[in-house]
Amino acid sequence: METVVINITTEYERALNEAKRLINDGQVVGIPTETVYGLAANALNEDAVKKIFVAKGRPSDNPLIVHIAKFEDLEPLVKEIPEKVKIMAEKFWPAALTMIMKKSDRISNVVSGNLPTVAVRMPKSDYARAIIESCGCPLAAPSANLSGSPSPTNAKYVYNDMNGRIPLIIDGGSSEIGVESTVISFAENPPRLLRPGGVTLEEMTELIGEIVVDNAVLNKLEDGQTAASPGMKYKHYAPSADITIIKSDFETFKILCESEENITALCFDGEDKNLACPSVTYGNINDGYSQSARLFDALRELDEMGAGKVYARCPNTSGMGLAVYNRLIRAAGFKIKIL
Ligand code: TXA
Ligand code: MG
Repeated sequence: METVVINITTEYERALNEAKRLINDGQVVGIPTETVYGLAANALNEDAVKKIFVAKGRPSDNPLIVHIAKFEDLEPLVKEIPEKVKIMAEKFWPAALTMIMKKSDRISNVVSGNLPTVAVRMPKSDYARAIIESCGCPLAAPSANLSGSPSPTNAKYVYNDMNGRIPLIIDGGSSEIGVESTVISFAENPPRLLRPGGVTLEEMTELIGEIVVDNAVLNKLEDGQTAASPGMKYKHYAPSADITIIKSDFETFKILCESEENITALCFDGEDKNLACPSVTYGNINDGYSQSARLFDALRELDEMGAGKVYARCPNTSGMGLAVYNRLIRAAGFKIKIL
């Protein structure tokens, strides 16, 4: 299969028309969103959704997020809309926010991975919402990487993974946020945070009160433990490099990096100039959003450099930092040293 790439910033109408034609024909299309790129198919067409799992090489018990363009699109997908979801949607949607509810009969078990629930997101990206509107159906879409690769933040990375596997990629430039959406379940009360992302725990708690943080957000699941979010149990992207997070001040970090042979540092912007070893930076020390925008690219760069042993600076875990830490600790195989 030939994979065509259309740039939606320069060929808007053609991009929307081609996406619509292929998705209405039951095909899978790579689409831009503000978090990461998605692999989209008509969420109400079971055969089309099955093709997503094939293209991605994804286990079929890992459910997909359903993307909508406006709040009215939510009602047919769920059994009922909890009051707290209405409040959250009013305040945050469109956003990097995925909310889980009990599913309606219109959502097949292929989408929900046999769970009784469905995850729904209204993306903030105008391109993403225009594509959904143009197709006229909700779009089921996981991140557009092969299972086990990092989520792609631009069309080039989607192409690297999906060339020959899907007919079309819509190029909408770099994803602004750079890590996947916040996932929170309203199928239980109090709601449970399953994955931290672009809408922070603090912002949500301020609005709706108590939120339980699922154990898998910060900790490794032990063998036999079940995950509330099936995606948490799968091995996440870890670069070939062997990463350890170092929780310390910069001076201590510098001494450690320079006292051993062949260390590569994963550090914050500007710190690289004060290190004698090779390094890759991942954003401003005080700005979780700049860190999230850089993290997956920085991990790819470590591999491109052929980095062996990597010491990483530890992000602050408040605000957007929780999402950064959640991805970094997985990339590090949960190895952390407190100095
Ligand atoms: O930002 C994002 O969320 C991107 C873009 C494309 O929208 N999508 C994304 O999808 O990251 P994916 O499939 O890579 O991650 C979805 C996560 C998985 O960990 C999955 O297990 C979880 O959400 N999930 C989906 N439906 C669920 C459900 N009904 N119950 C619990 N977890 C669910
Ligand atoms: Mg993913």
